[in-house]
Amino acid sequence: MLLIFCLVMFVLALSALFFWFADGDLTLMWFEHFGHKADILKGRVAWVTGASSGIGKHIAYQLARVGCKLVLSARSTTELENVRKDCLTCGHLTADDVLVLPFDIADIAYHSVATDMVLKAFGQIDILVNNAGRSQRAWIIDTELAVDREMIELNTVAPISLTKCVLPHMIARRRGHIAVTSSIAAKISVPFSATYCLTKSAVNAWFHCLEVEMSPHNILLTVACPGPVFTNLTSAAFTGKSGQVYGEHQEQDKNRMSASRCAELMVTAIANGLSEVWISRHPVLLITYCMQYLPSLTSRIFRLVGLKRIMTTREGR
Ligand SMILES: NC(=O)c1ccc[n+]([C@@H]2O[C@H](COP(=O)([O-])OP(=O)(O)OC[C@H]3O[C@@H](n4cnc5c(N)ncnc54)[C@H](OP(=O)(O)O)[C@@H]3O)[C@@H](O)[C@H]2O)c1
Repeated sequence: MLLIFCLVMFVLALSALFFWFADGDLTLMWFEHFGHKADILKGRVAWVTGASSGIGKHIAYQLARVGCKLVLSARSTTELENVRKDCLTCGHLTADDVLVLPFDIADIAYHSVATDMVLKAFGQIDILVNNAGRSQRAWIIDTELAVDREMIELNTVAPISLTKCVLPHMIARRRGHIAVTSSIAAKISVPFSATYCLTKSAVNAWFHCLEVEMSPHNILLTVACPGPVFTNLTSAAFTGKSGQVYGEHQEQDKNRMSASRCAELMVTAIANGLSEVWISRHPVLLITYCMQYLPSLTSRIFRLVGLKRIMTTREGR
C-alpha cells in the first residue's frame, strides 16, 4: 500500500515539475517530445497570412526550414519580400518555391482571386494558416460600434471567408489542413480587449464546427491559442476609435514568449494534426487550465486579485 502511495506521489510530483516548465498545454508538450517532427510537412504547399511580421513570419521560417513551398500574404509588400529572402536562405527552397501575395485580408472580394493565383502558381494548397489579425486596447464603454464591426470583419469574417475559398479545392483532393491563430483571449475574458476576445471566441467556435463537418473529407483543423507573445501586435492594435492605432510597443516581459517559439509550437501542432493547442508561459497557461476546468472559482479569484493585477498579467508581466 505504502509503495503504491509513494509511486502515485512520485508520478504526481514528476507531472507537476513537467507542467512547471511547460510553455504549452500538456498534449502539445507530449507531441513535441514524442510526436511527429515538423519535417513530416516537407514538400507541402502552405499559405500563411499575416506573414510579414511576428508569429506569421516565424511560421514561414519554420515551414521553409522543413521544405514547404510557401505563399506569404499580408499588406506590406516590402516586409513580405524581406521574409521571402530570409525563407530562401534558411531552407533549401528555390526562388519559384516562395510566392509573395500581398493583399488586405479585410478585402473579402479579393479572397477568391487570391486563391486562384495560389492554385495557378502551385496547383495545390495543402496547408492554410489563417494568422493575420489585430488586437485591441480599449474599454468597452469607450469602443465605437464601428470598431467592433471592423474587428469582427478582420479577425473573424476574413479567416472564415478565405477558408471557404480554399475548402472546395481541399475537399476535391480529399486532403488539407486549415490552421488558425486564435488566442488565449478566446478562453479567458481579458479586460481592455473585449472585442478581441469576441472575435477570437467566434473563431474557436466556427473552426471547431468546421473540424467536425470536414472529418469525412479528411481535412484537419488546428486552432492555436497563444498567450502573450513578443510581436508588433500591441502597436498595431485597435483602440475604441475607428481609424486609430494604439501605437504602444510591447516590452520583452519575462512571461512573454518569443514569436519564434510560438511558431515552433504551432508548426508542431500542425505536423501532429492537433485540434486545439494553448501556447503560453505561466502564469497565463495555469490560469487557462483553471478557467477551462474551474470557471466559477477562477472568476471569483479574479475578482479578489483585482483589475490592476489582471491587466499586468495579460501583458506578460
Ligand atoms: N502577440 C500575441 O501576444 C498574440 C497572442 C495571441 C494571438 N495572437 C494572434 O497572432 C496573430 C499574429 O499576430 P502577431 O502577434 O504576430 O502580430 P503582428 O506582428 O502585428 O502580426 C500581424 C500580422 O497580421 C497582418 N495583418 C494585419 N492586418 C492585416 C490586414 N488588414 N490584411 C492583411 N494582413 C494583415 C500584419 O501584416 P501587415 O501589417 O503587413 O498587413 C502582420 O503580418 C494575430 O491573429 C493575433 O491575434 C497574437
